[in-house]
Amino acid sequence: SNLVIGVDLGGTETKIGIVEENGRILSKSIIPTKVFEGRIAVVTRIAEAIKQLIMETGSSVGEIIGIGVGSPGSIDHETGTVLFSPNLPDWSGFELTVILEKLTGIRTFVENDANAFVLGEWAFGAFKGCKHMIGLTLGTGVGGGVITHGTLMTGKNGYGGELGHTIVQIGGPLCGCGSHGCLEALASATAVVNMAREYSKRFSKSLIYQAPQLTARVVFDCAKAGDLAASMIVERVTDALAAAIGNFVHIFNPEHIVIGGGMSRAGSILIDGIRKKLPRFVMPSFSDTFQVNLSELVENAGITGAASIVFYRLS
Ligand code: BGC
Ligand code: NA
Ligand code: ZN
Repeated sequence: SNLVIGVDLGGTETKIGIVEENGRILSKSIIPTKVFEGRIAVVTRIAEAIKQLIMETGSSVGEIIGIGVGSPGSIDHETGTVLFSPNLPDWSGFELTVILEKLTGIRTFVENDANAFVLGEWAFGAFKGCKHMIGLTLGTGVGGGVITHGTLMTGKNGYGGELGHTIVQIGGPLCGCGSHGCLEALASATAVVNMAREYSKRFSKSLIYQAPQLTARVVFDCAKAGDLAASMIVERVTDALAAAIGNFVHIFNPEHIVIGGGMSRAGSILIDGIRKKLPRFVMPSFSDTFQVNLSELVENAGITGAASIVFYRLS
């Protein structure tokens, strides 16, 4: 059968799965990425984990038609090189495709992680087959992917679809990419933690600061419990997302916008906030043309997305 290996490369952990053509994950493993050990060590560990997974599943290398890797950053389409990655500086200029192919002997395709996410949603998600859709991932960074007319929009070099670096606040907070006021600088998990730190003097009694570790999850949980500082942060996040999505709606006229990534697990407080604010940012003619939803693939969206890179490129 035609099996694919999906590799969801993240800053802290990497998820690897063997995926069937119907999107079902046969088996998976999660390994720490350990970026600090250097990129060669990271990619070697990934190759080992792939081989082990193939062995454990009782499949053979011959059944695997390809490896798909979703990686943060700008990926050069011709060479499969990661050119620039704001949250994984060590990746910049890394010939990930060539090296992983050498280490595994399996044909490898590398794509931007959020492009992979939207491909996965398009192939296997709740709105599969939809010809015009946008994916956003909210995690350490904010990623974006655009399907238009049933194809992945890549632009000239393959870097297109960096929706997380559209500016939503002129002169806003500094982003990892070097600009100010990017969506990522206001709506990533990193941004949420930074805002919480910034509020610590003014709101020293807030519930946020009583948690053993300050994370985006803590902030969302505190907002659900009615905490003022946390609620103000969530307002900023949903404002930024609604403004950004309004822009995307005008540019791409999508039918579906699907939001994934770890922070999407905040659930209704996030999605309801966005939906409520969207009318402020959307022209009347567009108001009934699209839907915004949270991803239903949740935990598996990364692996499924990475695997769909291979199905997409080989189809
Ligand atoms: C990067 C994107 C990536 C996103 C999510 C951003 O900082 O610029 O390439 O898709 O983070 O990982
Ligand atoms: Na992208
Ligand atoms: Zn940016």
